[in-house]
Amino acid sequence: MRLYIINSTELIPAVQRQVRILDFAPLEAKAAMNVMGASPKAREILVKEVEGVGKFSYPILFDKAIHPTVTPGPKLDDINRLSVQKVAEIIETLASQAPRALKLKFEPGIITLLLGFFPSLLAKESLQAREHIVDAFNDYFVSRGHEEGSAFVKAHYQHKIDQGITGRDIASFEIGGVVAIMSNTIPTAFWVLYHTISDRDILSECRKEVIACCEISGDTCTLDITQVKASCSILLSILKEVLRYHGIGTSIRIATEDHLLDGKHLLKKGGIVMIPGIVQHTSIPVYGDSVNEFQHRRFVGSPQRKRLNALAFRGFGGGTTLCPGRHFASTEILAFVALAIVRFDFESTQDDWIFPTTLNANMAGSVAQPDHDVEVRVSLTTSGLAGKTWNVVLSGSSEGVRILDEDIR
Ligand code: HEM
Repeated sequence: MRLYIINSTELIPAVQRQVRILDFAPLEAKAAMNVMGASPKAREILVKEVEGVGKFSYPILFDKAIHPTVTPGPKLDDINRLSVQKVAEIIETLASQAPRALKLKFEPGIITLLLGFFPSLLAKESLQAREHIVDAFNDYFVSRGHEEGSAFVKAHYQHKIDQGITGRDIASFEIGGVVAIMSNTIPTAFWVLYHTISDRDILSECRKEVIACCEISGDTCTLDITQVKASCSILLSILKEVLRYHGIGTSIRIATEDHLLDGKHLLKKGGIVMIPGIVQHTSIPVYGDSVNEFQHRRFVGSPQRKRLNALAFRGFGGGTTLCPGRHFASTEILAFVALAIVRFDFESTQDDWIFPTTLNANMAGSVAQPDHDVEVRVSLTTSGLAGKTWNVVLSGSSEGVRILDEDIR
């Protein structure tokens, strides 16, 4: 099998323009089959051809079905509002008791499941965990829980019904969604928090930004996450720098016919085309000599600074597979870190902060997970805000988080 690796930043648009000739849908269907444990009938649906859409209509139409529910606007505001409330509850619980440790067992086996390589032998624990997750989703759908769910949940469900997915397969297909939602959000949130709290000066700068968004009235402190998204430019820059510095994602396409890329490079039918994010994120021409350093202000814009080439930022991928969940995930992460830093003080339990390695990171994710936990002593902040009653809101907006050029209107 031929592999074509796209390292040149300038060639990326040429790949992304050829939506069906250099297509992600066949790989999406394969990944779905191997990871979700679909029945033979559901497998047929994943690869079927629909007139006017072509082969692999399920993944192609799936994107169209869910996009309107996660694009900035009232439907996204609804799920963001709920997630911000959940984050606020977790922070409230943390404020009153020590946190609990949770262990995720599904993810380590994803690569084995993706490759379909003796999964019952090599990814036994993951297969068992998958069955538990499918059982839970099955109960949810059978008891019509989705009818009370968000527009996003309803769109997921309706797409499957429209495509002819039935029975337990409806629940199995949710596994793909769980992977997309959890596997990148958790390590990204970890690193944004880590980089914000492990440096006294950075913490102080970010705190100042968040406190400027707080409205204090008597004993109540109200924090509007919409304002955090719009005005905490250092926190936002840290999120983006995390995706650059810790990003390990590779966009993949399959050549569905012979194609002369950019009129110069012959890509043979069946070849796999890869755009490794790491290559772009370590580009000296784009990011300069400090490319190997984590610079928390790298993405803070200013009239004096040259704009960075947007094509060389692949934190959320690009082209037709650009992550549709980016506004939701960014809002949730910013809400979590903003609230954590205004309510708590942090100290390493070691003499100094230890920067976790990422040598064992699971390559199925787009963001490297740390190899080990970081122990932190968390106490209520000594600033005057500790004793306040917190009211966390999301006033809503038609604007998303300003991570990519596409998102800045
Ligand atoms: C910080 C968290 C996240 C990161 C870093 C992230 C990153 C990515 C990346 C790099 C891609 C692949 C792009 C490509 O192949 O070019 C992607 C695709 C995708 N993401 Fe995310 N993601 C995150 C959160 C989410 C969330 C919360 C959701 C769901 C609400 C989501 C849904 C998806 C879906 C459905 C795709 C496939 C898009 C397609 O094939 O058209 N992601 N994401």
